[in-house]
Amino acid sequence: MSETDVPHRSVLVEEVLRLLDPAPDALVVDATLGPGGHAEALLRRLGPNGRLIGIDRDPAALALARARLAGFGDRFAALHGDHRDVAMILARAGAPAADAIVADLGISSAQLDDPSRGFSFSADGPLDMRMDPGSGLPSAAELIAALDETQLRDLIATWGEDRNAFRIARAIVRARSSEPILTTGQLRTVVESAAGPAARRFRIHPATRTFQALRIAVNREVEGIRELVTGAVERLRAGGRLAVIAFHSLEDREVKTAMHDLAHRCVCPPGLPVCGCGRTNLVRLITSGAIVPSDDEVAFNPRARSARLRAVEKLP
Ligand SMILES: C[S@@+](CC[C@H](N)C(=O)[O-])C[C@H]1O[C@@H](n2cnc3c(N)ncnc32)[C@H](O)[C@@H]1O
Repeated sequence: MSETDVPHRSVLVEEVLRLLDPAPDALVVDATLGPGGHAEALLRRLGPNGRLIGIDRDPAALALARARLAGFGDRFAALHGDHRDVAMILARAGAPAADAIVADLGISSAQLDDPSRGFSFSADGPLDMRMDPGSGLPSAAELIAALDETQLRDLIATWGEDRNAFRIARAIVRARSSEPILTTGQLRTVVESAAGPAARRFRIHPATRTFQALRIAVNREVEGIRELVTGAVERLRAGGRLAVIAFHSLEDREVKTAMHDLAHRCVCPPGLPVCGCGRTNLVRLITSGAIVPSDDEVAFNPRARSARLRAVEKLP
């Protein structure tokens, strides 16, 4: 694949490789395979006996990754599923304990750039936004039709962190009373009208935060993070490592709390020679605070600017 064909620029790749540091014959799992950028870098790092299993809830992402990584033959396998089910998916696939697991949360540029998916206001398309169109979850258009004004305001304020959430929610309710909002273009126009002329001074397009908020809500992106972290740690061998990249502050907080809880389960008083509470710690944190991309990486790939990487190692 040439540079111009790259559907997505992977974030913090060198940092992920350094933290996971897989042995040549390792079994690595990518729980958010996407177009396979991290997976390709990891497979290149592994030796001829190293394997990688990728998971994604988006069938289109799996197809992209399968095409990109076909040259790795049976060293690579792609499985459809939700990362919150990572323990079950790997158990069902008969996979042995993993040496390293990576999850790069959120959306890929390949998804964002496809107007038929409805993730972006840059081109008109159906207001869908489901990463797994077969999931049975309501689409963004269905969510917008179903929520009342307060629920819409809370959704846009929480997941979009948009100070205009009140005005946008009100404008959506007003607009949908004359015709249903079914396309990305319609929603963009409604948000622009709510933001008014002052929006011309915004650093980002006024619809950016509303679209982000809807995407996170439609795909219930933050709800599954704790299960992802717990399930991934369950499937690691002792000494194996998990690295997670988050792009939203609430997402990162969930990753941080989930990892912290697994690292601090023991409630014995300090100084006790042996744990007596039976709640042994399962991991140790191997990143103090989150790792963020360098200025050079952000200049090359602006999507990286909000990335936060955290990692743990499973204890024996
Ligand atoms: C940022 S992209 C991954 C990009 C990939 N690391 C790369 O370097 O090419 C995130 C991917 O995770 C997938 N995804 C998001 N939430 C998921 C979930 N709950 N379960 C499985 N896959 C998920 C998305 O469909 C998307 O393809």
